[in-house]
Amino acid sequence: MQSSGEKVVLNDGEVLRVEKLEVRFYTYAGVVHAVSNVSFYVREGETIALVGETGCGKTITTRAITKLIESPGRIESGIALFRRRNGQIVDLLKLDDEEIRKIRGDEIAYVFQDPSAALDPLYTVGYHFIETVKAHRNNVSKKNIIYLAIKLLREVAIPSPEVRVKNYPHELSGGMRQRSVIAISLSNMPKLLIADEPTTNLDVTIQAQILELLQELQKRYGMSMILITHNLGVVAETANRVYVMYAGKIVEEGNCETIFYNSAHPYTQLLLKAVPNPLKKIEKLESIPGTVPSLINPPPGCRFHPRCPFAMDICRKEEPPKIKLDDNHYVFCWLYTKR
Ligand SMILES: Nc1ncnc2c1ncn2[C@@H]1O[C@H](COP(=O)(O)OP(=O)(O)O)[C@@H](O)[C@H]1O
Ligand code: SF4
Ligand SMILES: [Mg+2]
Repeated sequence: MQSSGEKVVLNDGEVLRVEKLEVRFYTYAGVVHAVSNVSFYVREGETIALVGETGCGKTITTRAITKLIESPGRIESGIALFRRRNGQIVDLLKLDDEEIRKIRGDEIAYVFQDPSAALDPLYTVGYHFIETVKAHRNNVSKKNIIYLAIKLLREVAIPSPEVRVKNYPHELSGGMRQRSVIAISLSNMPKLLIADEPTTNLDVTIQAQILELLQELQKRYGMSMILITHNLGVVAETANRVYVMYAGKIVEEGNCETIFYNSAHPYTQLLLKAVPNPLKKIEKLESIPGTVPSLINPPPGCRFHPRCPFAMDICRKEEPPKIKLDDNHYVFCWLYTKR
């Protein structure tokens, strides 16, 4: 694996810094450029959101961080500096399998879209806590882990946690299953929680509750969080900063308010038009014309050009540079170059 030439450092107050991450899948149909030149950082105690339509590279970006990329996928290059609990700074992508396994599920935890996939139907909720803790700390007794499980189930607002801890997954509703998965993910007190579309499979009222819960827990435990979603509306109250991804690349980054009220990239602006406004009961949502391109032969130049209402000649030929619009506000788009 190559690493980029320049020196990348983790600044004070940052827990993770990813630089120039490249992930490809070598399929029979061709090479899928799933994640291209992706850079971002997460501060201690902050929530960032990765936003974009399905197929834009959000999941693969975050799975790559703990080397959860399976064949035919390959992390081609990049750096992912992480500040461990003990203060040590490591490049996650350079760790061997055993070293990364120690961090995954412990200092970095995941909550995925489908809670059923995260829970083994043959085992009780309590057993999942025991497995998760024992994988990293062998000296904790089962009794103490069950105490912890009950405490965490209570914190995620599961009623009668003493009873629920003995339940099997099928005895819980979808919302309760996702709450349990969140509680299990907290059992080792991660420094960084990655929540990948954690509410997509739940109904709308439960979605709001789960997001509120994640936000509360993140504050209570001082964790950092990466929230992945295809719905920009979801990030409004949850995230501090937002990275918008399109076709495997980051196209805009900024504070939450900037992205909502002052977005610059045409793709972000179209994504915003597709967000339901809770204040308006009936509203025609605009969907973005066209689809995310195949990443086997992504469009040259700006990957958004086939769908962009402002596309110019240069957009079809040359990749747009990263342009600073403001402190913390960056966009990759030819519209903002001074020529
Ligand atoms: N196992 C795989 N084999 C081939 N291509 C894959 C595989 N997993 C993901 N991809 C491709 O990588 C790109 C990014 O996928 P993903 O990160 O899952 O998107 P998102 O999470 O934004 O919906 C997509 O083009 C997808 O088709
Ligand atoms: S670089 Fe060109 S095609 Fe891409 S978003 Fe900007 S204006 Fe549209
Ligand atoms: Mg995904």
